[in-house]
Amino acid sequence: MLQLMLWGLMLPSLLSTFTPSTSSGQLLPPRSRIGDEVGAHAAVRPPIYMVQVRKPAHLLSAGPEEVEEWHRSFLPSPTLDSGEPRMVISYKTVMSGFAARLTAEQVKAMETMEGFVRAQLDEELIPQTTYSPDFLGLRPDVWDAANRGKGAIIGVIDSGIDYNHMSFAGNEILCPPPEGWKGSCYFERRPACNDKILGATYLRMFSPTDNGGHGSHVAGIAAGLPYPLTSIRADEFGTASGAAPDAYLSIYRASSTCELLWSIERAIEDGVHIISISMSTPVRQLSPGLYANVIAKGALEAVRRGILVVCAACNGGPSPGTVCNDAPWIMTVGASTMGRALNYVLRLGNGQEIQGESVSVEKMSKKGLVFPGANDEEDARLCRNLEAAVNVAGKVVMCYTGDITSAKKAEVVKDAGGVAMILTNTQRRGSIVAEVPGDVGIPVVAVNYADGELLINYARNPEAIVDLRPEAISFDAGPFPAVPSFSGRGPSRDNGGILKPDILGPGVNILSAAAQGEFVLKSGTSMATPHLSGIAAILKLYLSKETGIGWNPAIVRSAIMTTAVSSNNEDDPITDETGDRASLFAIGAGHVHPAAAMDPGLVYDIPVVDYVRYLCGLGYGDEEMFAMVDRTFNCNSPRLRLDPEQLNYPSIMVTLDVRPTSKSKSKTISRTLMSVVSKPSKYTAELSLRTQRRMAVRVSPETLQFSGLSDNRSFDVVFSLCGQIPHEDFDVEGHLRWVSDDKKHTVSSPFLVRVLIKQASQDRLPA
Ligand SMILES: *[C@@H]1O[C@H](CO)[C@@H](O)[C@H](O)[C@H]1NC(C)=O
Repeated sequence: MLQLMLWGLMLPSLLSTFTPSTSSGQLLPPRSRIGDEVGAHAAVRPPIYMVQVRKPAHLLSAGPEEVEEWHRSFLPSPTLDSGEPRMVISYKTVMSGFAARLTAEQVKAMETMEGFVRAQLDEELIPQTTYSPDFLGLRPDVWDAANRGKGAIIGVIDSGIDYNHMSFAGNEILCPPPEGWKGSCYFERRPACNDKILGATYLRMFSPTDNGGHGSHVAGIAAGLPYPLTSIRADEFGTASGAAPDAYLSIYRASSTCELLWSIERAIEDGVHIISISMSTPVRQLSPGLYANVIAKGALEAVRRGILVVCAACNGGPSPGTVCNDAPWIMTVGASTMGRALNYVLRLGNGQEIQGESVSVEKMSKKGLVFPGANDEEDARLCRNLEAAVNVAGKVVMCYTGDITSAKKAEVVKDAGGVAMILTNTQRRGSIVAEVPGDVGIPVVAVNYADGELLINYARNPEAIVDLRPEAISFDAGPFPAVPSFSGRGPSRDNGGILKPDILGPGVNILSAAAQGEFVLKSGTSMATPHLSGIAAILKLYLSKETGIGWNPAIVRSAIMTTAVSSNNEDDPITDETGDRASLFAIGAGHVHPAAAMDPGLVYDIPVVDYVRYLCGLGYGDEEMFAMVDRTFNCNSPRLRLDPEQLNYPSIMVTLDVRPTSKSKSKTISRTLMSVVSKPSKYTAELSLRTQRRMAVRVSPETLQFSGLSDNRSFDVVFSLCGQIPHEDFDVEGHLRWVSDDKKHTVSSPFLVRVLIKQASQDRLPA
C-alpha cells in the first residue's frame, strides 16, 4: 500500500522541470586526493584533525587560494616525513578551516596561534544499516534501462555507488546537464556520468565506486530506476524502484567526518536540491552538543542555502535518548515496517502453524526441531559455535538473533549438519521481524519473539518435528506501519527539547540495489532516509510549481510532517516492537503520506535566522556559536535568543518543571502558520490528548482565517497542569490539528509535554 502511495507520486509534470543549458562537468580529478586506501605506513601517519579558524579582517573577502595559503600557515610543515602533504582539505564554504594530518602536540601548539578556534579529530562515519548485507541472490538477466526523464537532484553522501547496477543505468550521454548543475563525474573507467548518476566524487579514495553496497542500496531507494526482478520470490516483489525514479543522483563517497563535510561543500557547489545522509558520527555516551557534530554543522550551511538535508535517526533503539542527527534544521527519519511479509510457514508436529519469513522457497517435511541453547549456553543460543552443543545433524536448528551475522550463524548450523535454521527474535527485538537473511546455503526462517519462545518450548520435546513451506508474499501483513526495535528514539540529548525523530519511512526488509548487480534486502534507518529524500525531491519541485511560494527546506518538511499518519492499517495508533502503542519519541509526526504532503494547506515556516537564534537559546557561548556558524555571533541581546520550545517547528515539545525550585505549572507556546493555497481559508483547532487527566491544553484563537497565499496567522497553545500533582515524572502526548472548513486539509502537529517532578529528574536520560 505504501509502495502504491509512492508510485502515485510519479507526476509527468515533473519531467520538464529542468531546461538543459551549459556544458557538461569538467573532468579534472578532485583536489587533495591522497591515497589513504593504500597507505602502507598508516601506523606512523598522524591522524587527521579538522581545525576551525577565524579569518583575520584582511582575508574576509580573499579568494580560496589565498585562504588555503593562510590555512597552510598553521601547519608545522607542508608535508609529513614520508613526503605526503599534511593538508587534506582546505574548506571553502562549509567551514572556516581545514583538515590536516597532525599530532596531538602539534594541535596543542596551534592553540596559541592567532585565529585558532578549535580542533576536532576526524572520525569514521557509521552507516545506519542494522544488519549486515544478506544477499538475496537475484541476478536478473534482462534489463531495460528505461530513462524516466528528469527531476530533482538528490545528493547522496554515503559509501559510493556501483554505477554498473541496472538501477542506475540511465542514458549514457548527458549534454548539456540540467540547469544549475555544476558537478563532476570521477569514475575510473567511465569518463562521464549518465542522466541517472549526474555526478560522483570523493575526497581521499580512489574512486566513487561502492565496495560494501550500502551507498548503492540507499541511492537505489532514493532514485533507482524501475527494474523488473526475475527470480522466484522476486517475481512476487515485482519491480524494484526508487521513491523518485525520475530524479537525478549526485554521489559523494565519504567514510569519515572530514570527508563528509567536504561532501556537503561539494554538494552545495554542485547544485543539488536534497542531501541524503544515511550515516551518523559515532554516538557518544556524553555528547558535547550540536556544535561539535559535523553533520549538524554542514547541514546548517546547506539549509541556509535552501537545500533540504534528510538524515537517518540512527539504529540505537529502543532505549530512550538514542535518536541522532537531531538538529532542528535536519529532517530526521525513523524506520517502520510496510506490511510486506515474505511468508513461510512452520507446521509443528502437534498441528500448530507459525508464520515466519524467508527468502527461501524450499519445502521440507518431518524434520527434527532442536534448540541447541536450551541449557542457556551463550554460544549455542546464538549459534556462534555448536561444537559443544547437542547433535543437530539432519535437524532444523533454532538460533537467537544478534551478536554475529545471520549468515555466519547459518554457516555454523550448516557445518554442524543442520538442514535449516530458524532465526528467532530476542525479547528486545520483540514482534517485528527485521532481519530476513538472504541465500545463505540453507533455508533460514525468521520468526518474532513470541513465536520463537513458543517454538523453543515445543522443541523441548525430543520428538519435536516441523514441516516447512513457503507461502505467497503478502503486502498487508498488519499491523503496519510499526516501529522496529532498532529505530532511534527521543528525547534528543542535544537539541534542547525539539521532538525527534520527525517522521517515519519504510526501513524494514527493503529491497534495493547492491554491489555487483544484485538486489538485496536491508533494514535500518539508513533505508528509511532515502525514501524521504526521494519523496521530498518530488514534493519540492511539485509544490514550488503548483504554488507561487518560494519553497525552502522548512516548508517541505512541514508539509511532510503535518500530513503524516499516526494510525496504522487497522486504524489504531502506530505500535512498536512491543506490540503496544508507540510513543511520539518513536514516531514523531508519524508515517509519511506522500499524496497528502503534496497539498498541505498550511505550513510552519522557519527563517534561517531563527536557527541561529535557537542556538543562542541553547545557551551557546562565543566558541560554540563560532563552531556552528563560522562567525562571531553575540547572543547577549535577548532579542537574539529563541527558546528552543518556541522555534516554529511542526511538532511541539514542552518541559514543565514543577520541582520545588522552579514551580512553573503552565507554559505558553506560540506558533505561526502560513497559507500555501491562494484561496481564502478558515481553520478550526482540534485537540486530542492521550491522557486527559492532569493536563489542560488550550489553543487561542481557536479559529484562524487566511486571506490567501503566504498569509500568516499566529496562535498560542497553553499547557497547564491541573488536579493533584503526582509524585512521579510523566509525559503527556497528544495532537493539535487545524482542520479546514471544507475538510480538505488537516494540519496535524504532535505534542509531548514532559512534567518533571522529582528532584533529580534532569538525569532522566540514560547516562
Ligand atoms: C509570512 O511569513 C513568511 C516567513 O515565515 C514570510 O516569508 C512571508 O512573507 C509572510 N507573509 C506575509 C504576507 O507577510
